[in-house]
Formats: sequence, C-alpha cells, structure tokens
Amino acid sequence: GAVDAIIVAAGRGERAGAGAPKQYRDLDGEPVLLRSLRSFLALPAIRRVVVVVRAEDRGLFDAAVAGLGAEYSGRLMSVDGGASRQASVRHGLEALASMTAPPDHVLIHDAARPWASASLIRRAITAARTHGSAVPGLAVSDTIKAVDACGQVTATLPRPALRAIQTPQAFRFAAILDAHRRALGEPAEFTDDAAIAEWAGLPVHVFEGEAANSKITHPHDFRAPVMQAPAASL
Ligand code: CTP
Ligand code: MG
Repeated sequence: GAVDAIIVAAGRGERAGAGAPKQYRDLDGEPVLLRSLRSFLALPAIRRVVVVVRAEDRGLFDAAVAGLGAEYSGRLMSVDGGASRQASVRHGLEALASMTAPPDHVLIHDAARPWASASLIRRAITAARTHGSAVPGLAVSDTIKAVDACGQVTATLPRPALRAIQTPQAFRFAAILDAHRRALGEPAEFTDDAAIAEWAGLPVHVFEGEAANSKITHPHDFRAPVMQAPAASL
C-alpha cells in the first residue's frame, strides 16, 4: 500500500534564536528543511510528501525548495500550518484525506530533524506495516527524575524502561487521522503524534532510532551531532 509523508515546518523556531525560523536557516550550504525533505523524496517507497508551512513563510519555503530537482515536484505539495504542532499535523492529515487516493500509511516528521537517514525511514515504514503505530526511540544515558513544581525530586525513573522518542513517526493513515480528529477538542497539549495515538487507545511500538537524528532546538544544535567536539557535550 501507498506511503505518504508529512513534514511539519510551520513553527516559529523561537528557541533557536534570532533570524529566520530554524527550518529555513543554512546548514552546511542548504536550508534545514531542504535536507529533511530530500531524505524522504529520495526514497521511491514514499509516494508524496506534504510540507506544512506557516502562511507568512511562503516566500522562504518557495526559496528553500527551489533547490530541488524538477523530478521531485510532482510528489511535493504544501499546506498552511496551525497555531500548534498538533494543528499543523492535522492540517497535513486532512490534506491527504481530501485527495482521491489517501495513503495506507503515513510518516510524520519534524522539519527540524535534517539528519534522518534512509535506513531509519525504511525502518519506520516496515514497523508501521507490522505494528500499525511505530516511533523511533533511543535508550537514555542520563538518569531521568520526576520533580514537582518546587523542583523537589518525586521519583527516579527506571532507565531500562525509558526511551527518548524521535520522528519520523509512522501510522496506519486512517487510524491516526481518526485519532487526531477526536483529539481536536481535548484541552491537553500533545507533544507528539504517538501521544495522540496512545490517548486514542492505539498500541504504539518503539523501534530503534538514531543518535544522529537529533532535533534542532537551540542555536548550538545547528552542528551535526556526529561532528560535535567532546567539549560541547560536557
Ligand atoms: N511546528 C509546526 N507548527 C507549529 C509548531 C511547530 O509545524 N505551530 C513544527 C516545527 O516547524 C518543527 C516541529 O514542529 O519542525 C517541532 O517543533 P519545535 O521543535 O518545537 O519547533 P518550533 O515550534 O518551531 O520551535 P520553538 O518551540 O522553539 O518555537
Ligand atoms: Mg515548538
């Protein structure tokens, strides 16, 4: 069955500091978004890619994708974003739902993760076909503690049971579309699509993520994680 991808790129990138939103900033000679997008368009297994774009950033988006080969243009579309990541993903899902042939599975990826490899994306597709909902995760190396509002530790969480979750997250299209539609009225803020799937009662499988697939969040994240000097991680 067909697999489509949604790349959410409609954020303001406030934590990444001044200048254009991080997804349009330069990373080794190319906009971050172009790198993220190319990882998906380069795979024949991906039928089409919907990029979710903030209306004010249309000019930046057009400039960023101008560097793509013409052979990709038929598989690329864009829709307007929303006020939250959740709303932006939903706009992407609704765009796919309104097309004549919606996909069987959908991958949802942050534009701010430009280092996802082809093998990671292939693992996501395979895992979604096997498990329905599947997300990449990494074992955590830090000790993770729960704290209360005063900063007092309330628990030290068992590290073997913890995973740091990334994107691309992969789902059966009809199931995640339905979950997003139902979650629309919820006051809770869902920080990833797996949380919406969990809330909807769907089992979510975690497959092996990639250490290099980090999200650009702060100014220092613009350097590839594999190239960071040891001092930077102290
Ligand atoms: N995103 C989106 N629409 C929003 C908010 C976020 O499409 N309304 C996208 C971002 O463009 C990014 C991804 O969701 O690719 C992950 O969000 P995050 O890292 O939080 O990016 P920003 O919201 O842009 O950054 P910040 O929170 O620092 O402002
Ligand atoms: Mg954000």
